[in-house]
Amino acid sequence: MKPKIMQATAVAHPNIALVKYWGKRDVERNIPAVGSLSITLDGLTTTTTVRFDPEFEHDVFLLGGCEAPKMAQRVVGCLDRMRRRAGVSMHAVVESENDFPTAAGLASSASGFAALVIAADAALGAGFDRSELADLARQASGSAARSLFGGFVELRLTPDGPYPTETRQLLEPRAWPLRILVAVTDPGPKAVGSTEGMLMTELTSPYYREWVESSPADLLEARSAVERRDFEALADVSELSCLKMHAVMLSARPGLVYWNGTTVECIRRVRELRADGVAVFFTVDAGPQVKAVCLPEVYERVERDLAVLPGVTSVVESGLGGGARVVEDRR
Ligand code: DP6
Repeated sequence: MKPKIMQATAVAHPNIALVKYWGKRDVERNIPAVGSLSITLDGLTTTTTVRFDPEFEHDVFLLGGCEAPKMAQRVVGCLDRMRRRAGVSMHAVVESENDFPTAAGLASSASGFAALVIAADAALGAGFDRSELADLARQASGSAARSLFGGFVELRLTPDGPYPTETRQLLEPRAWPLRILVAVTDPGPKAVGSTEGMLMTELTSPYYREWVESSPADLLEARSAVERRDFEALADVSELSCLKMHAVMLSARPGLVYWNGTTVECIRRVRELRADGVAVFFTVDAGPQVKAVCLPEVYERVERDLAVLPGVTSVVESGLGGGARVVEDRR
């Protein structure tokens, strides 16, 4: 009898942190140094199929149909942790596709690992609960735990809990349907990856400790703004957290400059709009893209204003989306 093949497909969306994660409390176990708060998008999607087969001799990872050796190592690490917990030893083929540029500050590792743990769990029939899946995703990539959930999501440090972090949904997407415009200023991959950048910042920035120590207050402020659906309060603390993160990156040695000239122009434009009373704020991750977060009634205005800036190659629009989930197999 032919041995059983176990396969499942999952989708997940990238998320954008409004209160940022930058730095690690524990590098080996990938425990973040700070908590974070994010929104999950619906406009961009990662689709991942995992197929375990007793006849496979090793794991294979394909991203958009091509081998991706650097990412493959992290995928195998994640599968190993899942296999260990589920008590299985089969290898797998993992095929993942993004409908948006990879590694350009659009958090493809977040949606990638969120889709991976959901698909692998379903393929194995392991039945891990959401907290355990979030823990597995977080070990693969800190921001990935947040993409397991939809809408507004918080990742907290819980040193005394069953897991070192806990991730939960604060508000569903429909409860406060903000819109996001991603101004793409350079679709190429980023120069320094997040993990490497974080370690460099911790080792060399004179401001790293202040960054870590001031983060809980930002998180508290943002959580309260989300609970009250107070756009201005959320805008203030989000821009603060973003600029603080980039300040600490810039103060590393050598300084990490993820921005280009167009990034700065987009930030200026968003600030001008906000000063004119338009309900919009900006955030930027470890890449040159600018994400403008706004109320639904002003998104067309914001989109128009960003699209005409020289150097903006496209503006991707998105609403808030749901968490990672199993979908029907592609074949
Ligand atoms: C700037 O989750 O990519 O986007 O845990 O090392 O994989 P690793 O880092 P990653 O870092 C995300 C950094 C950020 C801010 C954020 O998303 O909170």
